[in-house]
Amino acid sequence: MAKLRWGMIGGGEGSQIGPAHRLGALADGRFEFTAGALDHRPEAGRAYAQKLGLAADRSYGDWQEMLAGEKDRNDRIDLVTVATPNATHFEITKAFLEAGFNVLCEKPMTMTVEEGEEIVRVAEKTGRICAVNYCYSAYPMVRQARAMVRAGEIGKVRLVVTNFSHGHHGDATDADNPRVRWRYDPKMAGVSGQFADCGIHALHMASFVCDDEVERLSADFASTIASRELEDDAMINFRLSGGTVGRLWTSSVAIGRQHGFDIQIFGETGGLRWMSEQPNQLIYTPVGGRTQIIEKGEAGLHEDAQRLSRVSIAHPEGFPLAVANIYCDLADAIAGEARDGLPGAEAGVRSMAAVHQAVASARDKGAWVDARPPMFR
Ligand code: NAI
Repeated sequence: MAKLRWGMIGGGEGSQIGPAHRLGALADGRFEFTAGALDHRPEAGRAYAQKLGLAADRSYGDWQEMLAGEKDRNDRIDLVTVATPNATHFEITKAFLEAGFNVLCEKPMTMTVEEGEEIVRVAEKTGRICAVNYCYSAYPMVRQARAMVRAGEIGKVRLVVTNFSHGHHGDATDADNPRVRWRYDPKMAGVSGQFADCGIHALHMASFVCDDEVERLSADFASTIASRELEDDAMINFRLSGGTVGRLWTSSVAIGRQHGFDIQIFGETGGLRWMSEQPNQLIYTPVGGRTQIIEKGEAGLHEDAQRLSRVSIAHPEGFPLAVANIYCDLADAIAGEARDGLPGAEAGVRSMAAVHQAVASARDKGAWVDARPPMFR
């Protein structure tokens, strides 16, 4: 099978998410790293791209130069990843979709709901793939949980409880560190801090595993470190359209919690639990029965979980491999074989609407608001 050509914007030297994309995209040999505009400093971006093995004429100084350089080539890239800071996602993603490229955009997809809806429309109009990197949803045991819910193995889901609460911004004496401060500055981060950064992974996960959309929410936001304008802690109550009750806690001041991402799904005939720090196990308890541990790679998993269990049983499955699963599904989608589960632009704009409505709800003392983007009401 011919390799697909892959380009990347952002993810330069020293960036947090850049290495995960490179490992993820290249893990299965389905993509070839072909072009990049990797850094906000043109020279540093060009130099690092060449250090990573890109040809000099495809090591671009900025994304505009990359778009101009790629769009008329016969061997142009098949997919571009946008892994720049949040405020730039919209214009880059839109420009590449309009030029006919498939895009994988980092979360949050956009800064506003209007921008998110625009991306959904442009992707529809151009017929290009626009995916969003909700990579946790690509862990095999998350797919197993979703398949079990879909198959009715825990009955109708009554309740979903999820957390993405870590303690890495809990030190008030470090609040002015530039790497931390921008996340709570509305000029840089937008309307929301911790919820838009981490909480949306948990909200997407709840909706993904329950196979249902978030319809309404009520939010309570707090800035526990006084110098912060945006929230560093949030509690969101929500309802899925089928009536499932949802609870979500997200925090960056929960000292002692590391990654702190977990989800529990409680149905009428059983419960499930998954924790990102032990991603290989899914905990299952049938009503009135014993708690069981379902292991990645074991016999009898649902097909979607088996397909993505690429490290054999007992070997640890890392975060980059969840990103690799996103690229694997993208390669299939570009080849015309759409894969169920790939988070698309619709998932991206649903998150943006939830963030904006949570901000409105928190300002209105937790009033219940419609969490859906206008285009999906
Ligand atoms: P970072 O600050 O560590 O790195 C950003 C990189 O983008 C740097 O190399 C910088 O030079 C480059 N850059 C900035 N502006 C650019 C521009 N206009 N053109 C080209 N390059 C540019 O940021 P980090 O943590 O890697 O985050 C990037 C994005 O990835 C954010 O949107 C973040 O929310 C998302 N992210 C997603 C994760 C996930 O689990 N899906 C995890 C971590 C980050």
